[in-house]
Amino acid sequence: MITIKYANKVMITCFDLRTHPTTALIAKIQHLYDEPIDVIHMDETAIHPCIGCWDCWLKTPGRCVMKDDMEKAYQRYVNSDTIILLIDSAQGFINHRAKAFIDRSIPHYLPYIIIYGKECQHAKRYRKYADLVFHFDTEGLTSSEEQVIEDYLYRTAYQHKAKGYRLMGHDALQVKKLKHRKAKNKQLPQSLYQSDARLVIYNGSPRKTKSNSGTILKAVKAQLGDRVDIRDLKDQAQWTHWAQAFQNEAHVLFFMPLYVHAMPSHVMAFIERLGPSNGSLGFFIQSGFPESSQSYYLEAYFEQLTQRLGRSYGGTAIKGGMEGLQMRPLDAQAKMVQPLVLAIDHLATHKMFDNKQCRRLAIPVRFNMIVRLLFRLFFKKFVDGFWNSQLKANQAYEHALDRPYEEEIAT
Ligand SMILES: Cc1cc2nc3c(=O)[nH]c(=O)nc-3n(C[C@H](O)[C@H](O)[C@H](O)COP(=O)(O)O)c2cc1C
Repeated sequence: MITIKYANKVMITCFDLRTHPTTALIAKIQHLYDEPIDVIHMDETAIHPCIGCWDCWLKTPGRCVMKDDMEKAYQRYVNSDTIILLIDSAQGFINHRAKAFIDRSIPHYLPYIIIYGKECQHAKRYRKYADLVFHFDTEGLTSSEEQVIEDYLYRTAYQHKAKGYRLMGHDALQVKKLKHRKAKNKQLPQSLYQSDARLVIYNGSPRKTKSNSGTILKAVKAQLGDRVDIRDLKDQAQWTHWAQAFQNEAHVLFFMPLYVHAMPSHVMAFIERLGPSNGSLGFFIQSGFPESSQSYYLEAYFEQLTQRLGRSYGGTAIKGGMEGLQMRPLDAQAKMVQPLVLAIDHLATHKMFDNKQCRRLAIPVRFNMIVRLLFRLFFKKFVDGFWNSQLKANQAYEHALDRPYEEEIAT
């Protein structure tokens, strides 16, 4: 039997991720609900960033290997009917702490892939998922930034198989149901910033080993040599120095994997340190699922960020389908990576991405009917086999579908 303990009780959990928690907001939220809200404060040390190891899928299914306050949070998360997330905004987006919380939710899903609508999603691990209710501070946000955040949070709830709501207003709070809206991407035209300076590339992958970004950027370095300076954002000791240097760097590219439809949380933490400055700014997002629409909500934010920082926009390149790069033989890897290297070569030479190259990289944007059918008939088996072989190698296959936190509550 499952969730006996809470069978007759509606459980509402509020994770307060704010830097300066206030009781006033919590009291206003409590007014909206008949049931008592359990509030859990999570400070800076409570949530370590996801490192993309995927042990929570492939070694200890459903459980994250990191030992921090998220361990307790997982149990509450899985067994609540409603989750309220109180989050800070920073640099026009949700801040890195909120992003880390969202990234660390992947153990609640299975590695197996389904196609829902015209896009990929990970299959459910648990039988039910709580409603997600977000409150973010709007101070200092433009109306476009506020919309980008709201769209992103809707998208997060959608990917999490949850209904999404936003709490808004000052004196009396209102609850707004979040609805699908097309991402506000591809609104900002590229603009040229003339300078002979070399291209500084920030690698935003949190992975310590077998990083796809690492493999791609190694090939970039091999082809472009001294025309690029590649910096790994895992080297946090350099952040203060790099954020200062950014003020005078003419051409900068952020290169990163997509994490729950946005940037990995440590990339956001670094972005929070940047100030307005001259120069160009470009972005390269590579992702696991093949369709580039996965990255549209992040592209929308990057356009806002470029304007916030007052820089010229070099464009955003998006490439899906990069998971599995490491499993290929070296010559196949080189072939897969070459179009990405060429796109960055163009950026380094012409100070902006080439639209034609970007359009080619971004295929498929979403899946058409034929691909959806082929996926169900043939590809799904192949992709499930990819995950199963790794689960078997780790002696974890028998536990692949475990629902650890649900079961813990029952006993
Ligand atoms: C926490 C987490 C969240 C992810 N979210 C997405 C996603 O929303 N969409 C997607 O297509 N891929 C997603 N991925 C897959 C990565 O983008 C993909 O594996 C990428 O190639 C990893 O690059 P790296 O090895 O350089 O870190 C996610 C991976 C992790 C670990």
